[in-house]
Formats: sequence, C-alpha cells, structure tokens
Amino acid sequence: MPAIVLLGAQWGDEGKGKVTDLLGERVQYVVRYQGGNNAGHTVVLPDGRKFALHLLPSGVLTPGCIPVIGNGVVVDPKVLLAEIDGLAARGVSTDNLMISADAHLIMPHHRALDRVVERYLGSARIGTTGRGIGPAYGDKVARVGIRVQDLLDPGILRQKLELALREKNQTLVKVYNRKAIDVAAVVEEYLAYGERLAPYIKDTRLELARALDRGETVLLEGAQATLLDVDHGTYPFVTSSNPTAGGACVGSGVPPTRINQVIGVAKAYTTRVGAGPFPTELFDENGAHISKVGAEFGTTTGRARRCGWFDAVVARYAVRVNGITDLVVTKLDVLSGLERVPICVGYEVDGTVVDEMPMTQTAFHHAKPVYEDLPGWWEDISKCRTLDELPDNARRYVERIEEVSGARVSVVGVGPGRDENVILHPLLP
Ligand code: IMP
Repeated sequence: MPAIVLLGAQWGDEGKGKVTDLLGERVQYVVRYQGGNNAGHTVVLPDGRKFALHLLPSGVLTPGCIPVIGNGVVVDPKVLLAEIDGLAARGVSTDNLMISADAHLIMPHHRALDRVVERYLGSARIGTTGRGIGPAYGDKVARVGIRVQDLLDPGILRQKLELALREKNQTLVKVYNRKAIDVAAVVEEYLAYGERLAPYIKDTRLELARALDRGETVLLEGAQATLLDVDHGTYPFVTSSNPTAGGACVGSGVPPTRINQVIGVAKAYTTRVGAGPFPTELFDENGAHISKVGAEFGTTTGRARRCGWFDAVVARYAVRVNGITDLVVTKLDVLSGLERVPICVGYEVDGTVVDEMPMTQTAFHHAKPVYEDLPGWWEDISKCRTLDELPDNARRYVERIEEVSGARVSVVGVGPGRDENVILHPLLP
C-alpha cells in the first residue's frame, strides 16, 4: 500500500485525530512529520476514554499501529516522556514508538526565547503557544540546532549546547534581561532524557521505506494546518514548519511518488487560535453558539478559539496546495440549531470581488467575506450515518461545501465519538 497524507485544511484543530482513529487498524504506521507539542489531538475511544495528545501521533492508541515521530518534528523530550508516562499510567503501551534520530530538540533556551520574544513584539505578537517551536526551527535552519541523536553522545551534546548558549545567553541576558542558562545543568537533564528515549531512537526514513516495500500502509499525519504553514499560510501569523502535503515528504523522508491519497480535514465552520487575519470571524451570538457547542478551547493552551463561518476560499486553496483527494468535514452537529448557515464563497477586497486567496497579506487583511446564505436545521444529527439520513438542509450544506471546495467530501463528523460519522466514500478501499 502507498502512503497517505492526513492534514488540516484550515487553521488547525479540525479533528485530525478522529480521522486517524477512523482509519484504525488498517494503518500500520502513523507518522508525525512536523510541529511539536504546540499541537493537540483529542481522541475519544469507544469506551468513552478521552486522550489529549500533543506530541505523540494518535496511532499510539490503535492496537498494532507503530507511531513514528519523523525528522521534521521538534521534540521537547520532557514533554514527550510525560506523555509516554501518562499513557502508561492509563494502561496504554508506547513500546513500539519510533523517534527519528534527525528530529530536532526543543531546548530550554528555545522555550525562554519564544516567551520573551512574544512579549517584546507587543501588539505585533504572533500568539504562539510559547512552547519554543519557532526558536527551535530557527536554529535548525541556522544550522545550530541540537538533534535527538545528540542525546546519545554526551561529548557532542555538551559541545553543541555550549556553542548555542554562547550566543543565546548573550541574547537572553543583554537583550531581554533574563537569567543565563547553565550548560552543565541542561546537559545533565538532557542526558537523563536521552537514556530513557534511547530505545525509541531510529533511522525512521529507512524503517518507513522498508514498511512501504513490505506493502504496509503508512499514514503521514500533519499537525496544525494549511493556513498555518510557514510558506503557504497567513505569514507571519503561522507556525514555523510545513503542515502542507509537501512537508509530509520532507518531514518523514517518504518520497512524493509513494503518496497516492491526501485527506484534508475541515470543520463545518472555521476556528483559529492566536493572532492573524480571519475574514469569516464572528463576534455575534452565532460565534458564541459555535464556541460553546463546539467546546472551542485549545487542547494545548486552553485558549478560547476564534470562531467563524465556513470559508470556501480557504478550503479551495487548501485543496489546491495540498492536492486533497478526500475532504473530511468535522463537527457538522455543532451547527444544528442555527437559523442560517452562511458559507463564504469569495472576498471583497478594496471594492473587487475575488474567489481565490489574495496574492498579498495586505489584501487578505482587507478581505471582507461574500456569503452565500443557506438555511439551517434543528434536528439532532448525531445518529445519522448516511447522507440520506441527514435533514435536507444539512445535506444541502454538505453538498454545497463539496461543490465550492473542489474536492469530494468522503466523511462528515456528526459527533465526537469514533463512529459518529456519515460515510460517503470509505477512506480506504
Ligand atoms: P507556534 O506554533 O507555537 O509557534 O504558534 C504559531 C501560531 O500557530 C499561533 O497562532 C498558534 O496559535 C498556532 N498554532 C500552533 N499550533 C496549533 C494547533 O495545534 N492548533 C491551532 N493553532 C496552532
């Protein structure tokens, strides 16, 4: 079987964990290919147990599935070990986890810098999760990063950290008036993490190539989403990695020719955490309904998510840049009880109506949504399992999303549970 990419088509939190879960035992490997513990998946198992995962791929909860942290991820080892221990305490084994030796580490100076830089930016801040993601990726690209494999070589770890802190401590102390970080203490702390993580550290790109050669199914699971991509998103209000489909190859070592399906996940509405433009954002009782019924609070930071109507311009863009073959529309049930459910089909930018993402950030900041007004529905849809069982207006809403997005809708989520879905086309044959 070839590799499959699963990614967010909006600004994150679309419910990707649920889709991984839906694919379940038919997938042998689930690979995280970018991001770090800025992500948050909530997975609800059939027995009702709820798991919030930040760094581990959601496949860790599927029996027999091998979870992989790819080279494109930035790993905070303290957080990873806490997550492993937390799962163990609830009887979930992570023994088969693989961590790429080439993944970069989030170090204490990355966390410290993320927070002080945000404070320093004031009203221009990105609204990061404060987990050190941006500074860790910055160091990776600047070639002063420290990688997972360095945990296995105390001499190299010390040498690389000394080099990094020579500059970072100057910045922390002289620019931001913070305390310097002690090299010896960090080396000791990280070597202890290395000892515990050593059994998991692997050449994951080789493992994945062999798995594909054996005919196994590899799911490449993105964190964050298309509009948070550092290249294709609403820069600078983005994360520092590539959640888009191209990033799946770079962050895992799986080549594009082995991928034949790209599943994009979009909520039936839109949410965004942090700062940045969001044309369909709602500030009225409809927004309050979505926030409350959809429980739109961040899994990682607990921040209230900004809520708005479905944006088909964004969806079409995501379909285009990722080559999405299947759309999964989640949380349709959240819209039940609203009188109208408008879909944004274009933007008015400085007097001109456009139906694609504007070329410049300035234009996107000026974009005003052009809505197509659709009637809502009142029924409880959580028991619907086929398109025909949906109330007419809900069905029409899904069909319209498919038409304006340009990719077939394969699954519609109608509740948080694993099987609360309307399946239009099976995701795997
Ligand atoms: P960072 O990834 O912590 O650097 O944050 C950069 C931007 O990405 C901020 O707007 C965050 O709120 C957003 N972000 C990061 N991770 C997630 C996520 O998992 N869901 C939604 N937004 C996220």
